[in-house]
Amino acid sequence: MKYGMIATWKMAYEGVVEGSEKLRNGKEVSEAVICAIESVENNPAYRSVGFGGLPNRVGEVELDAAYMDGERLCFGAVMAVKNIKNPIRVARHLSGYQRNNILAGGGAESFAATHGYESANMLTHESQQRWEKKIGEGYIPEEIEAYGGHDTVCIIGLDDQGRMGNGVSTSGLFMKHPGRVGDSPVIGSGFYCDSRVGAASATGVGEDIMKGCLSFRIVSLIKAGGDCQGACEKALFDHEADLKARGSKPGSMSVIAMDKNGNFGGATTQKEFPFVVSREEMEPTIFVAQNDGKVHRVIKATQDWKDNYLGD
Ligand code: GLY
Repeated sequence: MKYGMIATWKMAYEGVVEGSEKLRNGKEVSEAVICAIESVENNPAYRSVGFGGLPNRVGEVELDAAYMDGERLCFGAVMAVKNIKNPIRVARHLSGYQRNNILAGGGAESFAATHGYESANMLTHESQQRWEKKIGEGYIPEEIEAYGGHDTVCIIGLDDQGRMGNGVSTSGLFMKHPGRVGDSPVIGSGFYCDSRVGAASATGVGEDIMKGCLSFRIVSLIKAGGDCQGACEKALFDHEADLKARGSKPGSMSVIAMDKNGNFGGATTQKEFPFVVSREEMEPTIFVAQNDGKVHRVIKATQDWKDNYLGD
């Protein structure tokens, strides 16, 4: 059995390098996925996840995270939590229970404190400055979008025993209402993972992703015999077309998937969406899904693309 890992956005690259090293050394998939997500959560340079994440409209960093174990179909999630250094670790802890798998706000924070998870003020000087600038410019609450086209780190892993795991972590939409929860910690929307089939994850405007339960939809298409790339494109573009046909103007949505054999896919409704893949025979590599409104394709990121990419 080969191992593999796929992750949303270029910002996941270092985490995928670290997580893949664990998989190469035969570590269990949850250890590799948590290590990779933590690497992004701990890096204040990445603006939409963990430490230094994007504040809500009252200037607080409120985080969502989830973990799903594809062997047992167990999952755990925390929603709208403040001052927890690594929400992904708390989500993974909750995935070990039969009940109380999703904890929100103060309940999640007291659970984290009781179980010894490190607390930290997640607002950095830079994230506060971003918030002050936005407040100064004004914004329309009903029109908030994913920040510069990127938000959630989603990481899917496959270990050499065929076990799959799927973790997600985000500060959610910039200037969201306090207590607002997006797709990321919602099973079936932001993530879904079944070791017997494959896993999928989504990033973008959570309200639109949730309307299509995109991650579960992709895994269902793979289960029905679809390949990962085809399943990502079909689920995403059928859903986008459906929303438009009903008079909605969907925000950006992007998805990734990996099946139980390490095959992978990615798709986006926006101009471009980078994602990172590693497999036993392939060093961590950045791919870019590109969509010009007519043609969707996936290319390997060139050096030129890497030099000019300004997002996370
Ligand atoms: N996709 C993250 C969010 O909508 O919060």
